[in-house]
Amino acid sequence: MTILVTGANGQLGNEMRVVAKGSKNKYIFTDVCDDHPESVDMLHKLAGEDIDTSTTKLDITNLDAIRKMVQENDVKVIVNCAAWTNVDGAEDPEKYELVELLNAKAPENLALAMKEVGGLLVHISTDYVFGGDPYNTPCKEDQKGTPTGVYGLTKLHGEKNIQNTGVDHLIFRTAWLYSEFGKNFVKTMLNLTATKPQLKVVFDQVGTPTYAYDLAVAIFDIIENRKFDGNTGIYHYSNEGVCSWFDFTKMIAEVVGNTGCDVQPCHSNEFPSPVKRPAYSVLDKSKIKGIFEITIPFWVDSLKKCIINYSK
Ligand SMILES: NC(=O)c1ccc[n+]([C@@H]2O[C@H](COP(=O)([O-])OP(=O)(O)OC[C@H]3O[C@@H](n4cnc5c(N)ncnc54)[C@H](OP(=O)(O)O)[C@@H]3O)[C@@H](O)[C@H]2O)c1
Repeated sequence: MTILVTGANGQLGNEMRVVAKGSKNKYIFTDVCDDHPESVDMLHKLAGEDIDTSTTKLDITNLDAIRKMVQENDVKVIVNCAAWTNVDGAEDPEKYELVELLNAKAPENLALAMKEVGGLLVHISTDYVFGGDPYNTPCKEDQKGTPTGVYGLTKLHGEKNIQNTGVDHLIFRTAWLYSEFGKNFVKTMLNLTATKPQLKVVFDQVGTPTYAYDLAVAIFDIIENRKFDGNTGIYHYSNEGVCSWFDFTKMIAEVVGNTGCDVQPCHSNEFPSPVKRPAYSVLDKSKIKGIFEITIPFWVDSLKKCIINYSK
């Protein structure tokens, strides 16, 4: 079986390279840019010198290019890790068309290409499809989407576009993704708590961090063991547990031993932001655990693993 990974130079895409190393299946790693020198050293540290660090160029907004790649390589599964992920930047009205193209139209392209060959599309969505209603219990898959911003709205459009094609699909909504690769909250806070004497972080936005490696392991298990047969649909995946961004920061500082920074909780309205983020977007993971029989690590345990790897 040939599996095509899009957005392979990003956080989740690179973790897919790590988990797929040694698979008997063929993986093709693609991205809009075929160069990613900043991740190569870390890939070697995590998975050895013989890991596949190559990237084939594929722009997922180009349906003809996707079709060509699928036909030439007999692709049967696409794992779409590509997206517009800049939540604040998505609020720029001049960027709306581009964000919609990447987060809604491009997933439809991938779905159409897989539908034509009877293949499977694995797509990643977000907890930010929720948040507009005052929830205080974990969000379930069939709960109405109530995005608070353009990023969440366009990701919701992407989910609907995929469903409308009738392709076999697995849509994994995840949350607060971080990894050893790229820019993310963990790396930002490792730096800030090491260099600032004081820091204020919001405590009124609650969710669950997700180590992209853990999500990649779950995706890999479901694909490699063909657990997807007959199980098309939306699933929620984050790490276990719940925290605020303030709690997350305190834990990051504690794990790495940055004791010199006084981290204090604050309200969201103390930080001017172009987008209103969900106050509560914890995901209920009962469905994915029940159907695919996977075990999900606790967020603090995974955070420790990521920081150890990053500090290698
Ligand atoms: N990050 C989070 O906190 C978070 C939370 C919930 C859900 N998610 C979802 O999880 C998924 C993975 O997120 P991530 O953080 O791993 O993303 P990421 O690190 O931002 O990686 C996305 C990759 O997609 C590439 N890309 C952009 N436009 C493309 C195009 N036209 N064709 C092909 N590739 C293109 C990007 O390239 P460039 O960098 O060159 O643009 C980048 O390498 C996304 O679907 C995201 O919406 C993320």
